[in-house]
Amino acid sequence: MDAGKASPVEATAEGACLPVSRPERAGAALRWGRAYLEACGVEPDEARASARLLLARALEVPGHTVVAEPERPVSAQAWSRYVQLILRRGRREPVAYLLGSTEFYGRSFRVTPATLIPRPETELLVDVALAQLGDESCVVADLGTGSGAIAVTLALERPRWTVLATDCSPAALKVARENAGRYGVTSRIRWYTGDWCEPLLAAGWGGRLAAVISNPPYVAATELPTLAEEIRRYEPHVALTPGLTGLEAYQRLVPGAARLLAPGGYLLLEVGHGQADDVTDLLRRHGFRDCRVWKDLASIPRVVGGGGEPGPAGAPSGGS
Ligand SMILES: C[S@@+](CC[C@H](N)C(=O)[O-])C[C@H]1O[C@@H](n2cnc3c(N)ncnc32)[C@H](O)[C@@H]1O
Repeated sequence: MDAGKASPVEATAEGACLPVSRPERAGAALRWGRAYLEACGVEPDEARASARLLLARALEVPGHTVVAEPERPVSAQAWSRYVQLILRRGRREPVAYLLGSTEFYGRSFRVTPATLIPRPETELLVDVALAQLGDESCVVADLGTGSGAIAVTLALERPRWTVLATDCSPAALKVARENAGRYGVTSRIRWYTGDWCEPLLAAGWGGRLAAVISNPPYVAATELPTLAEEIRRYEPHVALTPGLTGLEAYQRLVPGAARLLAPGGYLLLEVGHGQADDVTDLLRRHGFRDCRVWKDLASIPRVVGGGGEPGPAGAPSGGS
């Protein structure tokens, strides 16, 4: 089948249709993929973007090529790869897992079902950390590193920093190490498996860190059923929810962070919608001073920070 021609189709159980014959050109393959995903309930913009990325992967060409070159031939092997990817996307598997990578802070990171897919809003946490700490030599921690997106980005953006990256998931840490290796920062990141601050305190880092940074799980368990299928069915629940209220991880890691920080150090935490006040109160109760909240591009309070014991680095500044 070629661009613009009607194609015979087979209905699937969901009512979406598979073409009986193979489209011979990229434009027609793209139209079919998009229509199939929409019939599976994927939002139109998302269906278009997914079909483009998955066809590009199947054809082994850059993403823009499939739109710019609708007459590009689609081989039988490429078509077979594309159909498999589209069928999986139709079952709501996230594109990032299908491709095995996603973008964070302008770089590509490997992701697997063992890791959360890093979100654009988490780039604010990185921006705040970079702005607060300058570029002097220091040691910082990324608690719950997942794919290592934050830890690796900090190491790349600040060549004089040493980063301690922790996670309770050995499988996630394996992916994080791969990402560090890919960007050549393995020697400046140390990895610890365990519960929040515990492995760092056990390793003797108490009172020595310039910053503790974390994007912990913060979705209330009661809200899990309301999440998009892509998230609820495919992303690791240990990365999404810490318990019933969504605040449990903060309650665990804030007291430990207070023990890890050097005088003048900062604690910087990503928070979920509506959690900034509770997390700020928690920081204050554990002795953090000059607490601040930073809003993301959607004006949602997204990062909460506070200074530990007074010291040479001073208290956090900026934010809203
Ligand atoms: C929201 S994800 C953040 C991942 C990554 N930092 C990012 O921003 O994309 C939270 C991470 O915390 C980890 N985690 C959950 N509970 C933990 C615990 N008790 N101790 C250490 N890490 C934990 C999860 O495995 C997951 O990788």
